[in-house]
Amino acid sequence: MKTRIGILTGGGDCPGLNAVIRAVVKSAAKRDWETLGILGGFEGLLRPTHSRVLDYHQMDGLLYLGGTVLGTSNKGQFSGKSGHGETRTIDPAVLAEARAGFESLGLRALVVVGGDGSLTIAQQIFEAGIPVVGVPKTIDNDIEGTVVTFGFDSAVAFATDALDRLRSTAQSHDRVMVCEVMGRYAGWIAAHAGIAGGADVILIPEIPFHMEAICRVVSEREAQDKRFTLVVVAEGAREAGRDFITLGATGAIREARLGGIGAVVAEEIGRRTGKETRVCVLGHLQRGGAPTTFDRLLCTRFGASAVRLIGEEKYGYMVAHRPPDTDAVLITHAVGRLRTVPLDGDILRTGRALGISFGDLAP
Ligand code: F6P
Repeated sequence: MKTRIGILTGGGDCPGLNAVIRAVVKSAAKRDWETLGILGGFEGLLRPTHSRVLDYHQMDGLLYLGGTVLGTSNKGQFSGKSGHGETRTIDPAVLAEARAGFESLGLRALVVVGGDGSLTIAQQIFEAGIPVVGVPKTIDNDIEGTVVTFGFDSAVAFATDALDRLRSTAQSHDRVMVCEVMGRYAGWIAAHAGIAGGADVILIPEIPFHMEAICRVVSEREAQDKRFTLVVVAEGAREAGRDFITLGATGAIREARLGGIGAVVAEEIGRRTGKETRVCVLGHLQRGGAPTTFDRLLCTRFGASAVRLIGEEKYGYMVAHRPPDTDAVLITHAVGRLRTVPLDGDILRTGRALGISFGDLAP
């Protein structure tokens, strides 16, 4: 009988998931292995299992297709996070059931493509006896152990394009434009897109902000006859001394949904400066669509690498981008602590060198 491996996508979708699936299926086929796609995330492992054989010849067009042809989920029995990013322990009975489902499918190993939450679950099902290899996915770019996650570059490209568009309307109307981007508790998207998009103010979770610092930028620009201002706000940014702004209640079995800080900031800028201010929330547009060239290549390298790791029986590892190579790190090394924007790193240094405000009082 042919060697058979499984692949599933977990958590929120992002550009490049299909490109990883394609790379796994194609490189597995080269070894004469069969790949089974587990449908709907981890839940697809529970009996009656939901899966389908992924044929080499059906992979055409997947390289640039957004979303995931396998489906995914970031809620339910396999939600790996709750509250503000606290790790959840999955019920041992559910883990045992997942292992039984895995065995019933005759799989040698399972590739889990996911972010921090899904990789946390991947580690738990690995400890429950399923040979697992992880692939780090998320637009948030907040996973330790890899220089970058796939999906991030695509989200930044989209947000940068949005900022270019917001700048022209801000300039035409002499307005302040506030653009809220995703990223959860890390400011990678805001910082990268903000700098690439020429923002005047960038607010990130790593630096609690002060409204007076933001309004000072608006006033200083007015004094220089620059009558518009572009502000980028990460959804997880918060005012010094205040809590995160969330949408709806924080569930015990699900991670809190961040969002709404852009409107709060815009309202306050308008009130304090008298400037006409508008807010634009990019939301899930950042997660949709085709992956960029960088992400296509990264996904393809990650997928091929994951199959290589299975060939070496290196389970409990996650593929990682360590230029110029694709490497492997223990999943335990990657999960449980978020990789945030370093306060003394080059990105913030670059922004400050250009005079961008991060909403703090001193600089
Ligand atoms: O982790 C990816 C992400 O898009 C975050 O940036 C965002 O906070 C969250 O997922 C949104 O999740 P949902 O799809 O459940 O609204």
